Amino acid sequence: MQEGTQGLGVILAETKKSAKSIIDTFYKMDTSILIQKYIEESNGEDIRVFVIGTKIVASMKRSSVPGEFRSNVHRGGETEAVKISLKEKYIALNATKHLGLGVAGVDLIRSKKGPLLIEVNASPGLQGIEAATGVNIAKEIVLFVEKNGRRRRK
Ligand SMILES: Nc1ncnc2c1ncn2[C@@H]1O[C@H](COP(=O)(O)OP(=O)(O)O)[C@@H](O)[C@H]1O
Ligand SMILES: [Mg+2]
Repeated sequence: MQEGTQGLGVILAETKKSAKSIIDTFYKMDTSILIQKYIEESNGEDIRVFVIGTKIVASMKRSSVPGEFRSNVHRGGETEAVKISLKEKYIALNATKHLGLGVAGVDLIRSKKGPLLIEVNASPGLQGIEAATGVNIAKEIVLFVEKNGRRRRK
């Protein structure tokens, strides 16, 4: 589902048969859906990149609990600070810019073919990433808003 959050609304179809019945069901319910290829080699891990303005302020790796493919913190995912590549930085900043967001949580998966963008959150949670990285993100957001508000007033 396009409106899902915290991993709820993300469904893994293990066979073509179940994919078909899931798609049929959502069409019948008149709900908009987004279909993505399942990236098996992600091993239930993803990368959350936190962007404020044109800067990356923190990034973390999330790992899902056994038996779960979704790495969201609300699904029990564990977090750790991670260094990201230049390409990952570029994807995160570009996605944020194209969506016109001041603050964004960009989710990437490390696939065999390199980093893939899976989702951009316009209202990302702070707790998990602040705990994993030690960055005071709330403060960074306040500084960003103050700076931009001032610029706009001029
Ligand atoms: N295409 C995919 N392949 C593998 N894992 C995925 C894929 N899409 C999502 N996931 C896993 O499910 C989690 C939740 O999906 P996401 O699209 O970020 O939705 P939400 O808005 O609920 O966070 C991701 O963090 C990732 O661990
Ligand atoms: Mg997500």
